[in-house]
Amino acid sequence: MPSQSSSSNPNVSGGAALRRRLRAQLRLPVVVAPMFLVSGPELVVAACRSGMIGAFPTLNARTPEILDGWLARIAQSGAGAAPYAANLILDKRNPRCDEDLAVLERHRPPIVIASVGRPDRVVGRIHAYGGLVFADVASLRHARNAAAAGVDGLVLLTAGAGGNTGWLNPFAFVAAVREFFDGVVAVAGAIASGRELRALEVLGADLGYMGTAFLATEESMAPAGHKQAMLQADADGIVQTDALSGYPANFLRSRLLEAGAMRPDGSIDRGASADVYSWKHVWSAGHGVGQVRAIEPVAAVAARLQREYDERQAA
Ligand SMILES: Cc1cc2nc3c(=O)[nH]c(=O)nc-3n(C[C@H](O)[C@H](O)[C@H](O)COP(=O)(O)O)c2cc1C
Repeated sequence: MPSQSSSSNPNVSGGAALRRRLRAQLRLPVVVAPMFLVSGPELVVAACRSGMIGAFPTLNARTPEILDGWLARIAQSGAGAAPYAANLILDKRNPRCDEDLAVLERHRPPIVIASVGRPDRVVGRIHAYGGLVFADVASLRHARNAAAAGVDGLVLLTAGAGGNTGWLNPFAFVAAVREFFDGVVAVAGAIASGRELRALEVLGADLGYMGTAFLATEESMAPAGHKQAMLQADADGIVQTDALSGYPANFLRSRLLEAGAMRPDGSIDRGASADVYSWKHVWSAGHGVGQVRAIEPVAAVAARLQREYDERQAA
């Protein structure tokens, strides 16, 4: 069993064993987190080749047919020893959820990350082919529900994360979750260096769930303007609002102003256009943005993380 909860996954013999087995497949304890309009097959393959878990939201492929092609490309690339993950948005507002789930069942990605909704309805179907299910959660209530549904991993969304953010302090969140869950724990929220990856392990977590740090890489599909704007920003340049997606999310202040979604006095224009709501014209990043100082290949970011992580481990 992956946790205190029951799992029907025959490949999972226990939380600790799963955590050890997954870590042995990785050079770095990292998930290159799924990002809307940013993560595609190139980013996933580059992440896996660098020994990290590469991930992408299924909705980044414009149709289920394109998703089918992306999953085939990732599998054919022989991405490397590291497993990859597909991110399924379970929100009622995602009309493609069932169709995309059927495509995933055909391609059998090693990990499915369930977001924005209860993972109950996907756990059995992913376990049936031997895949692992991670669920992202922003509160202890959601974490307990996901654990009870039999997920293998929890992604703890904490304060300062890019995209839809959490609000809990990571020290408090990890400690509380470890009291009832012995599966894989990943932490999302401004993880930007190898020092922080090592710190997470000391806290009792397994993986850093890193979006912002990989958003401005060469393999990311983010528009050039988004990558450039990140190089100028630091944590003070990030604004949290629930006005654009209905959930608390973090955005680059400079772009909110340019796109007219934020007034000069700092208030958010809640009547902004549909384009703004679609995130095409406002750009998200988390509090770790200040550590992104160049547009680099994924392998260069991974090499830096590895150096910092090794130094901390040796110390
Ligand atoms: C531009 C952007 C888009 C994102 N889109 C998604 C998404 O489609 N699905 C999802 O589960 N998380 C999404 N996220 C959240 C990330 O998966 C991850 O939780 C977050 O980036 C981690 O925090 P960090 O950016 O501080 O590293 C997005 C984040 C960013 C920055």
